[in-house]
Amino acid sequence: MGAKARILVIDDEDGIRRGCVRALEPHGFQVETASSFQDGLTRIQQDTFDLVLLDVMLPDGRGINLLEPILARDPDTIAIVITGYATAELAVEAIQHGAYNFISKPFTANMLLITVNQGLEKRQLSLDSKRMRILEQEAAELIRAKEQSDRLNEFKSHFATMVAHELRSPVSGAQSLVRTMLRGMAGEMSPQQSELLGRVNIRLDFLLMLINDLLTLAASKSLEDEKPLEAVEVDKVMERVIERHAEDAKEKHIDLQIPPSHPTLRVKATPDGLDTILRNLLCNAVKYTPPEGRVQILIDQEGDEVKFRISDTGIGIAPEDIPHIGEEFFRAKEVHRKGIVGTGLGMSIAKQFIDRFGGQLHIESQLGQGTTFTVTLPVWKE
Ligand SMILES: Nc1ncnc2c1ncn2[C@@H]1O[C@H](COP(=O)(O)OP(=O)(O)O)[C@@H](O)[C@H]1O
Ligand SMILES: [Mg+2]
Repeated sequence: MGAKARILVIDDEDGIRRGCVRALEPHGFQVETASSFQDGLTRIQQDTFDLVLLDVMLPDGRGINLLEPILARDPDTIAIVITGYATAELAVEAIQHGAYNFISKPFTANMLLITVNQGLEKRQLSLDSKRMRILEQEAAELIRAKEQSDRLNEFKSHFATMVAHELRSPVSGAQSLVRTMLRGMAGEMSPQQSELLGRVNIRLDFLLMLINDLLTLAASKSLEDEKPLEAVEVDKVMERVIERHAEDAKEKHIDLQIPPSHPTLRVKATPDGLDTILRNLLCNAVKYTPPEGRVQILIDQEGDEVKFRISDTGIGIAPEDIPHIGEEFFRAKEVHRKGIVGTGLGMSIAKQFIDRFGGQLHIESQLGQGTTFTVTLPVWKE
């Protein structure tokens, strides 16, 4: 029962009350007493007891009439009636009214203790089974909620995939028309026309970027969930990712410092997932670092973990924005202020993979100084 069990003795006989206290207190029970019907009723209405010892014959009322208020307060309170020689029928009546057991006067301390312990065990059992039923109900509700949210998620990613697919071809079609015009292949344009069309082109670029990110996000939510984790060679993926961003870095005169090779290093992931994580981090580092800056990639194995550290000397992230990086569509104030376009989806895609691989993402940043993203992933063990 955890804390001390609380017992109330309602009996007009002083000897019985004191006898009960003497018999029970040394066994760790907290015993309180009441000497009349009225006194007992007041105590019952004020407090909840684990067990009540109840004299059936009280000078100012029938003890049996206290059973109802006792059980109304807590249906699991155990009531044990104390009967005299001549009151066997009363004991039966009491049990019919919800008393758990009876004990006849005179009784020994030992008899009392046995009866009380039985009663308390019964109480514990019914409390436990109630708790079990509540837990079972809660579990069933959780399962229902989970199924609902799974269905909703499935619908969301299916919907996103469908919309993105449908959008991609008309948008890229429009973009190639615009580019054709920009190249002057549909006749000369005035400088003003080509300036406007140039802006259309930039908008279409952004739209395509958004569509691609949405597609990756939807894919990462559905398909990737099914793929089992495997041993992924870090070097292979790293090489691919660097190759794809070296050009952008070079264009901005960014000093891209690549990690030494780790020929045997493997992490527990999926190749596409690791590729997506590293690609997004490197893409951001290059994108959010002004020309002439530096981007550095470090890889370290520490025990069972591999740390990928991508540092830049870029625009940084304000402290209050850091906790939100990775939320869908979140973009920090600094990029809005600087007018750098993006979708705010890359990090949420990366974060999903990191979570799925049982990894961690840590961000350190100083506004205007630079940012370090650290991704920790479990190393592959045979
Ligand atoms: N290396 C970085 N330096 C500064 N800010 C960054 C960096 N990487 C990510 N961020 C911030 O996190 C936001 C979310 O990144 P991401 O999900 O990739 O979206 P975006 O399409 O805007 O790049 C970015 O908009 C930017 O505010
Ligand atoms: Mg990005």
